[in-house]
Amino acid sequence: MVSSKSLTLTVALLATSFSTTSAFPEYLQAAQVTGRQDDATDVYPDPPPGPLVSDGTKLVNDAAHPWQPLRDGDIRGPCPALNTLASHGYLPRNGVVTPVQLINAVQEGFNMENKAAIFVTYAGMLADGNLLTNLISIGGKTEETGPSPPAPALAGGLSQAGLGVEGDASLIRGDAAFGDNHSFNETLFEEFKDFSNRFGGGYYNLTVAAEYRWHSIQRSIATNPNFTFVAPRCVTAYSESALIIDALVDGRSTERKLDMDAALGYFRDYKMPTDFYRAPQPVGGNELAAQIFMAHPTVPGKNTAGVNSYTPDPTSATIADFCGVYSNFVNRTVQGLYPNPTGILKRNLILNLEYIYLGTPSAAGCEQLFPYGQL
Ligand code: HEM
Ligand SMILES: *[C@@H]1O[C@H](CO)[C@@H](O)[C@H](O)[C@H]1NC(C)=O
Ligand SMILES: *[C@@H]1O[C@H](CO)[C@@H](O)[C@H](O)[C@H]1NC(C)=O
Ligand SMILES: *[C@@H]1O[C@H](CO)[C@@H](O)[C@H](O)[C@H]1NC(C)=O
Ligand SMILES: *[C@@H]1O[C@H](CO)[C@@H](O)[C@H](O)[C@H]1NC(C)=O
Ligand SMILES: *[C@@H]1O[C@H](CO)[C@@H](O)[C@H](O)[C@H]1NC(C)=O
Repeated sequence: MVSSKSLTLTVALLATSFSTTSAFPEYLQAAQVTGRQDDATDVYPDPPPGPLVSDGTKLVNDAAHPWQPLRDGDIRGPCPALNTLASHGYLPRNGVVTPVQLINAVQEGFNMENKAAIFVTYAGMLADGNLLTNLISIGGKTEETGPSPPAPALAGGLSQAGLGVEGDASLIRGDAAFGDNHSFNETLFEEFKDFSNRFGGGYYNLTVAAEYRWHSIQRSIATNPNFTFVAPRCVTAYSESALIIDALVDGRSTERKLDMDAALGYFRDYKMPTDFYRAPQPVGGNELAAQIFMAHPTVPGKNTAGVNSYTPDPTSATIADFCGVYSNFVNRTVQGLYPNPTGILKRNLILNLEYIYLGTPSAAGCEQLFPYGQL
């Protein structure tokens, strides 16, 4: 008897293996078929999907994906894109998701490039997800992701500061040391608008992105005694500034600038503009991120003795060394959270590390790391 669940899985597998640009090697497909148990106590994480087959612009704020207000218990977090995808039903509206759902949603809804989507998704999963249940909250910690693996693992969701992607010097959200690292902050949005008025004629464009990114770092140096800006945050901060232009601007627009109504829609209301078309080609934010960085380069570092004591940290990888970002993450963050995993947890760590490597690290030719061995 074929359950609808395994049928769905088979269809997903077929779709991926028929794609000529599948993101994952065949031995993993085989491992998945033979290794999976599919019961509540042994959740085998599916491999990441490959790139979109049709990757041009199209209407994505469509009748099948209407914006809906939050219901009691729906979770949202620090990423305006993921919040918006959940509120339009590209992700489960409750905000509790799997890595495959995340990758499919950012690709389908915002045309995020496959390898970038894989890297950031599994960075989030390994740092903040529940590796036993293969679920992650796009916001704060919740029981809906199931019983957590043993400490020091946190499974805290994407709002968890300082491990995966979430970190200091955000554009619209405060630093964790101020107690709230994820809510929309009206004061910061006014600053964002002020910079858009002064440097972008009322729009967020590349000039604004560079100035406001720099300003957000200076703001944290001057106000947050605990400010820290090391890998991966010292890289993702620039990508996020860039992705606002690459992914949140309407795909039919010839001008790379975002108006303030659209910005408020994404950041505060989790809403795409009416009649929104996604980007005309897959976007990873990298080229613009490099330009934003070059306008005001900031070396990785932290405040070491109160505010205004920013000190470079030479042990952190820099934006110019992606493979160092990958190995810092695997060596420090992942092994710090999972010093001695066993059983299903160990297997799922090995798989998630395999999957993250299939993203940007493989494209960048980084040496693959196997801290827990191989299956
Ligand atoms: C096209 C896709 C995406 C776009 C346009 C996007 C955009 C952004 C932007 C603009 C921010 C900065 C918010 C701020 O500073 O106030 C942000 C933050 C964040 N994003 Fe995304 N994102 C995308 C995909 C993802 C994915 C796939 C993940 C992980 C699964 C992710 C996780 C996060 C997290 C954890 C933050 C918080 C970082 C922080 O400010 O501390 N994002 N994103
Ligand atoms: C960040 O926000 C989350 C969600 O509100 C909270 O649980 C967490 O304690 C905050 N701070 C840190 C350091 O993660
Ligand atoms: C800030 O740093 C100090 C010293 O390292 C630490 O005791 C404190 O818990 C930190 N506070 C927050 C909110 O991270
Ligand atoms: C918003 O950010 C400002 C500037 O950092 C801060 O003073 C204020 O307390 C924050 N507001 C909230 C509600 O967190
Ligand atoms: C951003 O907009 C301002 C004001 O119109 C303009 O001077 C600047 O050249 C623009 N930046 C880019 C990169 O187009
Ligand atoms: C990470 O660990 C690997 C092997 O354990 C080592 O070769 C590499 O130099 C380490 N990288 C960093 C950045 O710590």
